[in-house]
Amino acid sequence: MTIRGRIAGCGAYLPARVVTNQELAQMVDTSDEWIVERSGIRCRHIAAENETTADLASAAVKDALRRAEIDASAIDLLILATTTPDQTFPATATKVQAMIGMTGGAAFDLQAVCSGFVFALATANNFIRCGQARNAVVVGAETFSRLIDWNDRSTCVLFGDGAGAVVLTAEDGTGTIADRGILSTHLHSDGRYRELLQTDGGPSTTQTVGKARMSGREVFRHAVTNLADVAEEALATFGLTGGDLDWVVPHQANRRILDGTARKLGISPERMVITVDRHANTSAASVPLALAEAVNDGRIKAGDLVLLEAMGGGFTWGSALVRM
Ligand code: UT7
Repeated sequence: MTIRGRIAGCGAYLPARVVTNQELAQMVDTSDEWIVERSGIRCRHIAAENETTADLASAAVKDALRRAEIDASAIDLLILATTTPDQTFPATATKVQAMIGMTGGAAFDLQAVCSGFVFALATANNFIRCGQARNAVVVGAETFSRLIDWNDRSTCVLFGDGAGAVVLTAEDGTGTIADRGILSTHLHSDGRYRELLQTDGGPSTTQTVGKARMSGREVFRHAVTNLADVAEEALATFGLTGGDLDWVVPHQANRRILDGTARKLGISPERMVITVDRHANTSAASVPLALAEAVNDGRIKAGDLVLLEAMGGGFTWGSALVRM
């Protein structure tokens, strides 16, 4: 018998304010045409001044708990993937824990930038597999707009705010890919590339938070290769091909990266869940936001084979193969 974490419910939260490309074109030297052509992004949600990452995260977690029909008191693990914590310490996860009324178990933050949700999902699943948790919440939440230099056109048009969450519950299975739950996870990082996507500050260096800086062209090149490699790694584990997947839920950084990955894997574009046009890059929130959208609108159904994948600063990258 094999124990896996099964996704019992998905939740999402997007701030009310939507900022269009046209609005950004009034702030920096850019245009709707350039942004759409180079990235596929048309608009993004931006958190209100008084809204924090914990607010976004707790709204998404409450939505996921309601859909999973599980009470917060039954949750024994909460992992928050974020690059934009409310404070340097304590972990924003503990704030979310208190906000949702979860008083037992453990809550902590995990930092892998845009790959954070996939890293957190793998971590929570491993807690479940070894019997240390039965019901876990994994949430990716970001107020990435707070790390943006709004005078830097090469980054300010690319990011947005939001939160997505899943409830994982322990499920006994036969150990085959017919089982529902997380079938495999593969995580990677390579710190030699950390300067290509980073903030120019931090508590231990500048005693400031810093702003996001990116060498976009280089990151793009690595993203297409790393995402295709980690997807192939997941498929090879079970002797599958891209054609065996019902859906791919990728990190939403750039429409061209998504199209390039689909081509490399031989997956038809209709089976890729795309939100980058409306959400932009929400870092750790992008995969769970896209997953929640496709599950809750009925595209992704129970029993579907779904590949989640992400790549971000560090570099970090990873995948999770999931039977819904
Ligand atoms: O989430 C983690 C993963 N992140 C990513 O995967 C992001 C990866 N990178 C990308 O998505 C793309 O590289 C970008 C969308 C950031 C940029 O697209 P690109 O086709 O790689 O453009 P580029 O950086 O090569 O820049 C082309 C030109 C430059 O001008 P010159 O040097 O050719 O005269 C830029 O200065 O576009 C200029 N440019 C802009 N023009 C109008 C850069 N940003 C803008 C802008 N509006 N917002």
